[in-house]
Amino acid sequence: MAIIMDGNGRWAQARGLPRSMGHYFGAEAARRIVRQAARAGVTHLTLFGFSSENWRRPATEIADLMHLLRNYLRRDVAALHENGVRLRVIGAREGLAPDIVALIDRAEQRTAANAGLTLTIALNYGGRADLATAARRLAEAAVAGSLDPAAIDETALAGALPSAPLPDPDLLIRTGGEQRISNFLLWQLAYAEMLFVERFWPDFSVEDFAAAITEFRRRDRRFGSLKANMV
Ligand code: IPE
Ligand code: IPE
Ligand code: MG
Repeated sequence: MAIIMDGNGRWAQARGLPRSMGHYFGAEAARRIVRQAARAGVTHLTLFGFSSENWRRPATEIADLMHLLRNYLRRDVAALHENGVRLRVIGAREGLAPDIVALIDRAEQRTAANAGLTLTIALNYGGRADLATAARRLAEAAVAGSLDPAAIDETALAGALPSAPLPDPDLLIRTGGEQRISNFLLWQLAYAEMLFVERFWPDFSVEDFAAAITEFRRRDRRFGSLKANMV
């Protein structure tokens, strides 16, 4: 499962609060949904925390977001670890503050052997950059003579993605009412079921999460084939 956690700013604005408060309660929603996903037996949850395009926001808002991220990495990793969660971060480490990179490294190492929910947080992540890096890696291997260009297939490209080995999400949820991907997991979302919900992310509840799973179960996934009973 993958989630584009959108609508923090509008949630705050609707209450006459600063956008930073929306991000604060957005982080609370993330804690709630991570806990619930683990309980519900979800194996992989990927959260879009900060896109490579979010640097276009005002410096004060970026600072607020990084502050919340630091808090999360400092205060929440112990509880995640106790609950068997494996934490991974995808996205470009370059551009993130060195202390945040160190916190990420430590959290990933600490939780690496956990066998419960794999929680992947996308930070400074862009789907196109992910694909471009994979292309560059394959080209370098080809030039170095260790890879035959004829051997470059979907498996090779998927394996060369910096986000690998992230499995393809079965379900993508985007909160906040916008119906777009915003450069999230372009490769992996090829056959994901998409669910766009109006609710702003800070209001996204355990009940909304359960309703999303119920809706997903109703979907008829064909992967280009026909319904099972029509074959
Ligand atoms: C999502 O909420 C959080 C991030 C993108 C980091 P927004 O901040 O995009 O909230 P809206 O879309 O402006 O309401
Ligand atoms: C997508 O939300 C990124 C995250 C939720 C982290 P945005 O708010 O940045 O997306 P756009 O700008 O509306 O497409
Ligand atoms: Mg937004």
